[in-house]
Amino acid sequence: MDFFSYQNQRLHAENVAVADIVEQYGTPCYIYSRATIERHWHAFDTAVGDHPHLICYAVKANSNIGILNLLARLGSGFDIVSGGELTRVLEAGGDPGKVVFSGVGKTEQEIAYALNQGIKCFNVESPSELVRINKVAGELGKIAPVSLRVNPDVDAKTHPYISTGLKANKFGIEREQAVAVYREAAAMANIKIVGMDCHIGSQLTETAPFVDALDRLLELVDELSAIGIEIEHLDVGGGLGVTYKDETPPDPHTYVQAVVSRMQDRPNLPLIFEPGRAIMANAGILVSKVEFLKRGAQKNFALVDAAMNDLLRPALYSAWMDIVEVDRSQDREKALYDVVGPVCETGDFLGKDRELGLAEGDLIAVRSAGAYGFAMASNYNSRCRPAEVLVDGDKMHLIREREKLADLYKGEYKLP
Ligand code: LLP
Repeated sequence: MDFFSYQNQRLHAENVAVADIVEQYGTPCYIYSRATIERHWHAFDTAVGDHPHLICYAVKANSNIGILNLLARLGSGFDIVSGGELTRVLEAGGDPGKVVFSGVGKTEQEIAYALNQGIKCFNVESPSELVRINKVAGELGKIAPVSLRVNPDVDAKTHPYISTGLKANKFGIEREQAVAVYREAAAMANIKIVGMDCHIGSQLTETAPFVDALDRLLELVDELSAIGIEIEHLDVGGGLGVTYKDETPPDPHTYVQAVVSRMQDRPNLPLIFEPGRAIMANAGILVSKVEFLKRGAQKNFALVDAAMNDLLRPALYSAWMDIVEVDRSQDREKALYDVVGPVCETGDFLGKDRELGLAEGDLIAVRSAGAYGFAMASNYNSRCRPAEVLVDGDKMHLIREREKLADLYKGEYKLP
C-alpha cells in the first residue's frame, strides 16, 4: 500500500499534486512519500513482535541522506556495502552501532573506517576477507565483530542477475566450508564471532525459499554450538519482493511471521532483517515529460525526458514497471506506445507496448521506482541526474538538487 493516488484525476503524492512538484523542480524528477516509507518500515518492525530484532534497511536500494535520516529517526539500523554508504549513514544521523557491513570486496580502508566508527558487525563473505579484517583490526588495536555470510544453496526463483544464494553465485561462504571457517575465525586474535547471515536474492515472491534458507542456517547454528561456538544474532538478509505488475509477494507481515515462527524455541537469538526494495520501491515514482510523440507503421514512440541513465531497471533486467499518465482529466485518445528516452541505445526504454493517452508536453510517472531507481542512475550521455523530492503530507522537500551541467565534469582536468 502506498500514498500515491489520483485526486480529481490528477496524480498526487500524499496531498501534493505531482504537477505542482514538477512546476517547481522540473523533470525528470524522483518523488517519494514519507508516509509510505514509514508505513513499510513499521510493517517489518511490528510484525516481528516481541522477538529481539533489528531492521537494517539496505542502503543500496536508495541512499539519499534525506531518506536515510527518516529511517534513522525511526530507530532503523542499516545494511551497507561500501565505505561510501557508511559515510551517508553517518551524515544522515544513523547509529553506527546498528550498521552491518555486507559485500564481497571490502578494502582495507573500508574495514579500518568501519572499525573506527564502531559498526555492529562485518558480514564476511570469504576466508580471505576474514584474514584481512583480523589483520586490520590488529593494526588498529581493535576486536572486529563478525558474522559469516553462509550461502545456503537455495534457489530464490528470481531473475538470475539478482539471485545470490546458489553455489554458482559469488556471494557468501559455502555451507560445507562454514564450520571450518568459523573455527578459523574463533582462533583469530582480533575477531569476535557475533553472528551468521545469509541473503539469497532479491524480488522474491514466495516465502518458501526464505524459510528453507533459515532452516539450513539454524542447523548450522546448532552444529556450531555443539563445538563451543555461540551465535549471538541471525541475519536473514533482505529480498522480499514487491508488486510491479502482477506479482503476488507475501506482505511483510506474512513473510516476517514465517521467519519468526521458526524461532519459537530460540527467544534469545535476535533476528536481523535487511529489507531494501520492500521499504522503498512503492514509496517512489519517477516523473518525466513527453517531449515528442512519434508515430510509425509498426510502433508508436513516446519520447520522454527520462532515460536508462535515470532508471536502469527496464534496460538491465527487462524489468516491467508501471507507467501512468499524471493528468487523466484530459481524456486523451489512447494508443500503444514504447516509452523511450533520449539516450543513444536501443535498450533505452522505460516500457514497451503501453496503452496510454498522451500529448506532447504531458507528464508520465513510472510507479514503484523508489528502490534501485536513483541509486543506479548514471551520467551516461552526459545527462544530469534528476532532482529528488520527498513529500510529507501537504509539503514537498527537495532532498537532492538536479545536477548542473558543471557537475558533469567536476574533478576532470585538461592537460597543461
Ligand atoms: N542484503 C544484501 C546483502 C543484499 O545484497 C541486498 C540486495 C539486500 C540486502 C536488499 O535486498 P532487497 O530487500 O532490496 O531485495 N538492482 C536490483 C536489485 C539488486 C539487489 C542486490 N542486493 C534491482 O533493481 O532489481
